[in-house]
Amino acid sequence: MKDLYETIQEELDHLKKEGLYKEEKFLISPQDGSVSTEEKKDLINLCSNNYLGLSNHPDIIKTAKDALDLYGFGMSSVRFICGTHALHKELEAVTASYVQKEDAIVFPSCFDANGGIFEALLGKEDAIFSDQLNHASIIDGIRLCKAERFRYRHRNMQDLEDLLKKAHYARRKIIVTDGVFSMDGSIAPLKEIVYLAKKYDSLVMVDDCHATGILGEHGRGTHEKEEVLKEVDLITGTYGKALGGASGGFIAGKKECISLLRQKARPYLFSNAITPSIAAASICAVNKSKNEPERRKRLWDNAAFFRASLSKLGLDVMPGTHPIIPAIFPSANIALDVANQLYNFGVYAVAFSYPVVPKESPRIRFQMSAAHTKAQLETAISALERALEQVGILR
Ligand SMILES: Cc1ncc(COP(=O)(O)O)c(C=O)c1O
Repeated sequence: MKDLYETIQEELDHLKKEGLYKEEKFLISPQDGSVSTEEKKDLINLCSNNYLGLSNHPDIIKTAKDALDLYGFGMSSVRFICGTHALHKELEAVTASYVQKEDAIVFPSCFDANGGIFEALLGKEDAIFSDQLNHASIIDGIRLCKAERFRYRHRNMQDLEDLLKKAHYARRKIIVTDGVFSMDGSIAPLKEIVYLAKKYDSLVMVDDCHATGILGEHGRGTHEKEEVLKEVDLITGTYGKALGGASGGFIAGKKECISLLRQKARPYLFSNAITPSIAAASICAVNKSKNEPERRKRLWDNAAFFRASLSKLGLDVMPGTHPIIPAIFPSANIALDVANQLYNFGVYAVAFSYPVVPKESPRIRFQMSAAHTKAQLETAISALERALEQVGILR
């Protein structure tokens, strides 16, 4: 019989052979508009979720340092034993007010928030309706719950309605969607979803990891942009992207839901609390997101400029406006070659292929930040032009 480790090595070899093995680059600088890796200095960084440019902001760093001095390093406890700091409560209040919900609960990550929410709120007599392109953490959270599952075709409202009709007998129903789909930058049709939810007596939950701080006039999220601020029942989000980029996630909604989650959500009950310094700095980040709209303006201006520049190069850019800007390439290898060339020319962008994205649309996902200067984006576009020439696909 084969040794266990031999079979594991075979699995690793298989991933490498299929081009699915993920290599990591090691940063030796802060996360910012440009970063340095062990091999290369000052790469223009087009692949982080640092949308508002807050990951390396001096006020946020100072807030975290002050909290470290005042409250120490770690909590050494889950929230319900002795791990709830006053700063956690403040972060929850600030977050709830920002996304305009009654209350919020902070988790170690949004992966945990999505992992814990369904099992805590739903049982076997209930039903979940989930967009087929929802994030992995939603898929895993649904797996952990006994409710009946219905997967609707991506943003397809007819399919969703058919499924809602089919599950008329369910006690509680919940429609769950990403606000912004992370591989496409597309936005969920929340108005239509809310309409169907009302018609079929369902709750609506939105994962706004790529929208909080970004979408809507005040950056409250997809529900603000789509003008259904009140109608969305539950929002999950992260502090690990636009809001400072450290870690932590949240669920915001009605008081009763949040109270039940505090009693029953397993990642909240059985995982350590985020450190006070991260809570303090995340409060600072939420306040900056609320009070510094110029960051959002810069982000959206950058996204519009970069989208237009990619189209001018003749690239197949997925339609939209979001700072997630995917350019589709004819094959996974070509996308990878272009990303590698870009890296050689001082631009950091990542190629994605099957199974992360559909086989027929391998891509490079460019991500904009308010931290990018126009000059950096222009440099990145000339590097891309050279990379396309090198790979032989400049039209
Ligand atoms: C849509 C979506 N949901 C959830 C998560 C998980 O967030 P966190 O990093 O806070 O666990 C991510 C992060 O990749 C995401 O993109």
